[in-house]
Amino acid sequence: MTSAPVRVGVLGCGNVGAALVELVRTRADDIAARTGLRLEVARVAVRSTTKERGVELAPGVLTHDAAGLVNDPDVDVVVEVIGGIEPARELILAAIKSGKPVVTANKELLANVGAELFAAAETAGVDLLFEAAVGGGIPFIRPLRESLAGEEIRRVMGIVNGTTNYILTRMTEAGVSYADALAEAQSLGYAERDPTADVEGFDAGAKAAIIASIAFGSRVVAGDVYREGIAGITPADIAYAAKMGYVVKLLAIAERHDGALGVRVHPAMVPASHPLASVRDSFNAVFVEGDAVGELMFYGRGAGGFPTASAVLGDLVDAAVNLHKGSHGSIGTLAKAVLRPIDEVESAYYLNLDVFDRPGVLASVAGVFGRHDVSIRSMEQEGLGGEARLVFITHRAREAAVQATLRDLHHLDAVDRITSVLRVIGD
Ligand SMILES: NC(=O)c1ccc[n+]([C@@H]2O[C@H](COP(=O)([O-])OP(=O)(O)OC[C@H]3O[C@@H](n4cnc5c(N)ncnc54)[C@H](OP(=O)(O)O)[C@@H]3O)[C@@H](O)[C@H]2O)c1
Repeated sequence: MTSAPVRVGVLGCGNVGAALVELVRTRADDIAARTGLRLEVARVAVRSTTKERGVELAPGVLTHDAAGLVNDPDVDVVVEVIGGIEPARELILAAIKSGKPVVTANKELLANVGAELFAAAETAGVDLLFEAAVGGGIPFIRPLRESLAGEEIRRVMGIVNGTTNYILTRMTEAGVSYADALAEAQSLGYAERDPTADVEGFDAGAKAAIIASIAFGSRVVAGDVYREGIAGITPADIAYAAKMGYVVKLLAIAERHDGALGVRVHPAMVPASHPLASVRDSFNAVFVEGDAVGELMFYGRGAGGFPTASAVLGDLVDAAVNLHKGSHGSIGTLAKAVLRPIDEVESAYYLNLDVFDRPGVLASVAGVFGRHDVSIRSMEQEGLGGEARLVFITHRAREAAVQATLRDLHHLDAVDRITSVLRVIGD
């Protein structure tokens, strides 16, 4: 090995940053043996320089001057693991403008202002790599960008939020309520004290935007993603799903139809035989359907300091090698995606209705489905009297038609209550 070390500046030393510093220390020899390049953490910027970090840092490495780190001539490559939009955006733009490759794990940033950052990287001719931003430790972005670059991708479906997958797994396997499963996830540190970003699907929505942009080569931002969370899922929904051979999962879905992209996050019933159904606890997975390749699934730890730092380190090695060769990768300038409104998206549906047990109920309910061209695939009738219930699974139907059906069912005398409605995906 003849070249000088590649000096890394790390913005942030929290869960991911501290794990990355540790990985660079322990893996530097092997990386040097494989690539001929030695990575060295030169500077680490944080808010508080007195906080215990749990990692070895040479004196003078830690600083609270993040802008100074980015402009420091002793830093060759910048890693951003602060999170949020500002100051991450400004710092990354400054690094790029000074010709430094950047690696980030920041989904929120990319899903909102990614276009501006990628354009700046393109102009400056430097790498902006982001493997860890979706799926944490699962190497999925690079295979999608590189190995599948020639593939006609039809649909990508992911379980990309570990917190909600943990909650749904506990509801399924232990029969606990949503509130109890959430409290458990919070006590284990999987869920934040304010769980909104996870349970309402914002985190998965940001990831869905990035997945859609990369898989379909057109720009999708977080605000383009239709989103429903899991707070309304009940143990009864999960029990019904199980009885019919399904598992309830929060899915991020990006699919192309007639040239338009439908990108959405919502809970769905997935057949128990589908590979995504077996993704339990806080694990993540991304399932890709392509014309030539068929089906692929990427599975692993979607979060956690070390799994995420592993993906960041992979990018860092790539950026260092490219820098050494004087080259860089590019995702180009993506044109804004043509989006398919949720009303036009098609899906099969599960509907659970409490009905009054009297003659003609079934005919009047079936009549509403028929009026809106929503065809019924299966139907079960349960209970008697005040406990009577109809459970339907429909064939694929347009969202607008299903919503119109629900509105009419709501006003039907025979229907006491629509207890739940879930999309059925993957049959
Ligand atoms: N954690 C995961 O499992 C995971 C998985 C995938 C992606 N990510 C992404 O990775 C990024 C980092 O996540 P994390 O969990 O490591 O966050 P974290 O534990 O909250 O760490 C954030 C770090 O940034 C530092 N920081 C905040 N504002 C700063 C500023 N203005 N200047 C300098 N440093 C600043 C903090 O300093 P102090 O320590 O002094 O407060 C802290 O060290 C986020 O974008 C996140 O979405 C995380």
